[in-house]
Order: sequence, then structure tokens, then C-alpha cells
Amino acid sequence: MCGIVGYVGSKEAAPVLLEGLHRLEYRGYDSAGVALVNKGRLKITKAAVRVNELRNLVGTDAPSTIGIAHTRWATHGPATDANAHPHTDADSRIVLVHNGIVENYEDLKAQLLEAGAQFKSETDTEVLAHLVGSCYLDGISLEEAVRTALRRVEGTYGLVVMDPRKPEELVVARNGSPIVLGVGDGEMFVASDVAALVRHTQRVVFLDDGEMAVVRAGDFRTFTLDASSTTKEPTLVDASDDEYQLGTFPDFFSKELHEQPAAVDRALRGRLDEQFATVRLGGIGLDPHELRTIQRVKFLGCGTSYYAGMVGANLVEELARIPADAEPASEFRYRNPVVDPDCLYVAISQSGETLDTLAAITELKRKGGKVMGAVNVIGSAIARECGSGVFLHSGPEVSVASTKAFTNMMVSFAMLGLMLGRVRDLSVASGKRMVTGLRALPGQITEILQQSAAVEQVAAQYAGSSHMFYIGRNRCWPIAREGALKLKEISYIHAEAYQAGELKHGPLALIDETCPSVIVIPDDELLAKNISSIEQIKARGGAVIAITNTTLPEGLCDAVITVPKSEPELDPVLLNIPLQLFAYHVATKLGRDIDKPRNLAKSVTVE
Ligand code: G6P
Repeated sequence: MCGIVGYVGSKEAAPVLLEGLHRLEYRGYDSAGVALVNKGRLKITKAAVRVNELRNLVGTDAPSTIGIAHTRWATHGPATDANAHPHTDADSRIVLVHNGIVENYEDLKAQLLEAGAQFKSETDTEVLAHLVGSCYLDGISLEEAVRTALRRVEGTYGLVVMDPRKPEELVVARNGSPIVLGVGDGEMFVASDVAALVRHTQRVVFLDDGEMAVVRAGDFRTFTLDASSTTKEPTLVDASDDEYQLGTFPDFFSKELHEQPAAVDRALRGRLDEQFATVRLGGIGLDPHELRTIQRVKFLGCGTSYYAGMVGANLVEELARIPADAEPASEFRYRNPVVDPDCLYVAISQSGETLDTLAAITELKRKGGKVMGAVNVIGSAIARECGSGVFLHSGPEVSVASTKAFTNMMVSFAMLGLMLGRVRDLSVASGKRMVTGLRALPGQITEILQQSAAVEQVAAQYAGSSHMFYIGRNRCWPIAREGALKLKEISYIHAEAYQAGELKHGPLALIDETCPSVIVIPDDELLAKNISSIEQIKARGGAVIAITNTTLPEGLCDAVITVPKSEPELDPVLLNIPLQLFAYHVATKLGRDIDKPRNLAKSVTVE
């Protein structure tokens, strides 16, 4: 989605801003722009171009020690130079960049048009610029003008405003769209994502919804929309700039895919308790007695996070025998859900900023629900809103399509299931079995990654397909869905996931020699049934690619990828890795832009 970078200090702002935009490119965008101030003169450069081209357009003729910059992902109006940010009011007294959506922009625009405003773009952001300008009267400070304007705005915003005649401060506001301040030594940074500022500082301040800040080179002040001061101490982000660099990898997807052994290791570190055959998840903040009172568990998330929730529901049911399910947060928030006070709700999000998930949490809390987060980004909106939960510790995930965060979600839910199980009826022996299984995962994932070349050969054979089925059942049904999603996201091949048992109830009609099936087939109690599903597909001429941890009958499948055996509850964690490799190699064969799939964004902070 859109990205914001702001700078005020003593350095030249343009390189800082452009480098910051470059770090945010992974979020997806279709135009970009920068506003700089030199000797009181505003210089805006913006166009429907990539950041690299913008760099050439900006040039070096406007050295400025303050500036704001933006990458836009079109919502109101197409990706054109005119619609790109920054936007100004009529006389360019103020200039701003904005993430989010102004919902009442038509009403506001009508009022501003009546007052004589003229618009150069179709964006809701330009309306915001004119609105702030109209409130910026003589004797009124910029922060007051922004505050007054925002009281009339319905919708979401992450906002940075600058007055070119006062090139020493930026006014910042947040509501529903992330804004983080970076505190440097005699310089300050503003961004919509820490990725844009970690190379300069690791001391950050996350703004809350409804909060504003005035940022100057040497300090910052935070306050609410009604001007009451808030106290914010900088915290340290646990990400370094290196983690946002490709290193020797061709793209972030493969980098992050290969980082999974280390990511799982981090998620497990300090949490496994061999002595009591359980885990310690201190962040949940519930004592054993409170854990016993949980009667149900419901996982909420979007996209990949929702599928991780499905895996989590299976794990909790199996290990703790507590009824559990998962639901897309985007559905939950709109259906007036019945909120059960005895249910533990788990909000899952890699970014911690997904609006649908955040809205589901707000609805839950409003109805007295008990909600914890399973979030990767410390300090993110969902992490703060939940207040308790498990951090995924997968390290920054830059690729739009998730790999290591998904794996760490599954691992975290295995730990949650184990913890809930061990305060109930899960035996010490079963607990030990799980702890041992968890500990073995990083090494086993490394083994699977070593088969990348073999998976690549299979991918080369099937990359020309227009459709594929992904088949799984029970524990592996969610990863069949995730596998199909991964293929869709990065290769654009149509893929549909189906439960093996449902094939005969319709989809078999589509099976022929042009439609291969990827089937996830663990060595579990349903092995024989899964083999007969494969036979049904083969009988209709369909090719079968099996991802398994057992030996299948010779000649049954067209391709077989075998992973090490784990504890059955952990099968999805290992069997999912070849699905990631397969999607990756298919997408590479097709020459796709793996890290930036068309039409998709890393974190979706709009509806
Ligand atoms: C977007 C991304 C998906 C991701 C989903 C949830 O739709 O394109 O890849 O799974 O958001 O993101 P979250 O950060 O909440 O896990």
C-alpha cells in the first residue's frame, strides 16, 4: 500500500527520502513523489514512475534539510502524475502526503468547491490539503490547522504536513494508517513503516490512532486530536537494516523462504520447557487458572494469516481438546458476531496493521471479548490494541507473499495448543513428544530446503498449466489452501484448493490431462483414503504431484517430493515448505516479479 517518508534535520533530505521510499517499494505502489524546501521555495517532483526514475527527476538543484515523500497505490483516481502525492492547497501554503481513505471527501470537496477551491487531481488527498489550507488562517499554527481540519474528516489517515515557509517542522497525524517516528541525533524521521528508517535509527515512537505529533530536528511532541498532550518514550525496534537487504538472494521471497530454519529457531528460543513438557508464552498474560477457563478458541486473520488460523484451530483442538475454529477477520467484523466471554480470540497478523483484523479486534473488545495477538511486528497497531499475545519473531518480512511469518504462525499455535493442552489433559509423554518435535523443526526445514533443485525440476514441468488443484484434508487442508494462494499470488496461475473427500462431489469434472493436482499426503490415519483420491485423479488423466512424508506406491504419482517425518500435529509445518518452493520456481519460470505481485500489497490498511 502507500508509503510515507519524512525528514527534518541537518542532512540533505532528498537522498534520505528517496532511499526511504526505495525501502518501502515492497509494499506495492504505482506512482511516487517528493516535496523539498529550499530557501523558502517549495519544489515538488511527482510522477507515475518507479522510485529509481523519480530519483533522476528530483536531481540535485534543491538542497533541502526537510522534506516529505510518498509512494501511492491508487484508490481515488488512476495512477497519473497529477494524482501522485504530495498535494498542496491552492497557494501551496501547505503540502502533504497521506495514506488511507477520506470517506467523506465528496462532501468536503463540494464545500471547498463552493468556497472557490480548484482541484488539480481526482484524489481524496488533495481535498485534505485544501481543507488544511482553509483552516490555516492568520495567527493559527500549522498543528492547530491540521487538528481543526481532521475533526471534519471521516476515514483513515497517516498524514505528514509541511509549511514550506517554516522549514523546521513537520506535523504528523495517524488514524487507522500506521505512522512511526524515528528519533535520530539532531534529526527526526517519519515513516509509515520502520523499514524506511532502520538504517538511520532504531529508536522509534509508534503513534496511536487519533494521535498527532509535531516533529522538529531536535525533538518531538505528541498529543491527541483535542490537543491533550500524550507521553511517548522511544522504544528500540528489533530489526536491523541488514534484514531489509537482499544479500546474495535474487528476491526477498527466496531470501525469507531460506531464512525459515533461523526464524523458527527464534520463535522457539526460551519458550520450550523440557522439564514440564510444555511451553512458556509469557506474553499471553494468563495464569493456569485463567487458561483453564477458556472454553473455546477462535482465530481471526486475513489471507495467509487466516490459513495459519485454520492450522491453529486444528492444533488447539487436537492438543487441548478445546473447540476451536478460524474465520476471516474481514467477514467477522461485518456480521454482528456473537462474542463469547469464555472464548479466547486470537488475532493473527504478520504486519500488525491489517485494517480488517484491527476492526475485528475493536468489535471484539467493544463486546467484552478476550483477545490476544499473534503478530510479527512489535509496536504495530494490532500488537498494541491486543496488549497481550505471542510475537512471531520471524524477523522482517518484505516479500508481499508470506513465507516465514506463516511458518512461525503455525509454530506459535503449536506452542499455544501445547500450553493449553498441558493445563488440561495432555499427558507429560505427549507434551514431551511435542517439545521434541518442535525442537527438531529448524533442522528438518533445512533438509527440505536442500531439495530446492528437485522441486525446481517438477515446477518446470508444470509451469505451463493454466489451472491447478491443491488437495489436502484435515491437518493439511489449510496448507493446501495456503499452497494454492501462494501459487496464485506469485505466478498468477489459477489454483483452487479442495478437500480430498470433496473431489468426487464436483471438482472431478474438471480433471483432465491439462489440470495437474498438487496433493499433500502425510503418513497419517487417512493415508489409504488419500491414495484412493490420487487414483481417482489418475483415472481421469490428471497429473499428480505429491508432497509427502512417506513412501507412496511406485508409479502412483507423476512427481513426489518427500519431507522428513515429524510429529503428526506438526506435519503442516514441514509439508508446507515444498509448496512454497513449488510456487516460487513456477513463478520464476514464468518470469514474474516475485516480490511485488500485481494488484497486491503487503499490508492492507484500507477496506
Ligand atoms: C494482504 C497480503 C497477504 C496477507 C494479508 C494479511 O492481503 O497480500 O499476503 O496474508 O494481507 O496480512 P497480515 O499482515 O495481517 O498478516
